[in-house]
Amino acid sequence: MIPKEPVEIVEVGPRDGLQNISQYVETDQKIELIGLLAQSGLKEIEIGGFVHPKAIPQFRDIAEVTKGLDNIKGVKFTALIPNLRGARNAIESGIKKMHFVFSVSKSHNLSNARRTPDQSLVELKEIMVLASSDPGLEISVDLATTFGCPFEIEVKRDDIMYYVNRVYDLGVRSMTLCDTAGYGNPRQVGEIFQSCLEHRPEVLFRAHFHDTRGLGLANALAAYQAGVRSFDSSIGGLGGCPFAPGATGNVATEDLVFMFDEMGIENGVNVRALFEVCRYLEKMIPDVPITSSLYKAGFPGDHKVCRTS
Ligand code: COA
Ligand code: ZN
Repeated sequence: MIPKEPVEIVEVGPRDGLQNISQYVETDQKIELIGLLAQSGLKEIEIGGFVHPKAIPQFRDIAEVTKGLDNIKGVKFTALIPNLRGARNAIESGIKKMHFVFSVSKSHNLSNARRTPDQSLVELKEIMVLASSDPGLEISVDLATTFGCPFEIEVKRDDIMYYVNRVYDLGVRSMTLCDTAGYGNPRQVGEIFQSCLEHRPEVLFRAHFHDTRGLGLANALAAYQAGVRSFDSSIGGLGGCPFAPGATGNVATEDLVFMFDEMGIENGVNVRALFEVCRYLEKMIPDVPITSSLYKAGFPGDHKVCRTS
C-alpha cells in the first residue's frame, strides 16, 4: 500500500530551467514567470544562481530579479550558490535561504564549480560560519550527481554516505539528493534514500530528478515510497546542468503534481494554474519545447468526443 502523506513541491524552473537556455530572458519576464508560479500555490521557488556571470550568463541579473520579488509574500524565494562569494552576494541581495551545490563525483564538481568536493566542503564550512551570524538565514545543500555522473558514470554508495555525513557534521539539516544527469533508477533511488533517512533521521532529505531517460516520475515515486516528502521539479520540464554533458530537463512540475493529485496525495499546488504558466513559457521562450506529458496530452476528458449518431 502506498501511504497518503502530504508532500512539498519546490519549484526550480527559474534556476535549473533557465540556466540551460541559450536565450537570455529579460529581468521583467523572469519576475513575471516567478510571480505566476507563486500564484499556483507553490511555497518555495528557486529563482536563480549567485554564480559567475561568465559561467551562467542567464543569471547576470539575479540581484535585480531578487529585488523585483519583494512584493510577493508567503513564498520562500531561494537561490543556488557554488561558493562563499555567491553566499555573500545572495545575502546582500536579501536571499534568506541558499542552496549550496557541490557534486559527489570529483570530475563533475571540477567541471561545474572548479573545485574538488573537499575544497567545496571547506567553503561550505565558511558559509555556515557566515550564515550563523543571522538566525534568519537557512543553508540547504544540493548533492549533485548522487545517482550517477556523466564523467565517472557510477557513484559509489559509500561516497554518498561519506558526503552526507561530512555535510551533516558541518551542521546542515536539509539536503537534496540530485540526479543531475538522469542516471538513477527506482530501485537504486529507493535504497539510497532509505539508507539516508534511516541513518540521518534529523535531516530533511529532498529528491531532485531529471527525466533524461524517462525515469523521473518512477524515481519520484520510489523516493516517496522510501519516505521522502519533499521534491524539486521544474515547470514545463525545463532544466539541465550546462556542465553535465547530455543533461536534459527536470521532472516537470505539472506532471509531478498531477501524479500526486491522482493518487490523493496533498501537495498544495493548483495544476491548472501551472498550465497557465506553461502557456506563458511558450511565449517567453518559443524555441524551447515544453516536454511535460500532461501539457502535451491535456487533462483526462479534455479530448472527449461528443458522438451524435
Ligand atoms: N558570483 C560572481 N562572481 C564570482 C563568484 C560568484 N559566485 N565566485 C567567484 N567570482 C569571481 C571572483 O570575484 C573572481 O572575479 P575577478 O576575476 O573579477 O577577480 C572570479 O570570479 C574568479 O574567482 P574564483 O574564486 O577563482 O572562481 P572560479 O573561476 O573558480 O569560478 C565558480 C568558480 C563556482 C564561481 C564558477 O565556476 C561558477 O559560477 N559556476 C557556476 C556553476 C553552476 O551554477 N552550475 C549550474 C548549477 S549545478
Ligand atoms: Zn538539476
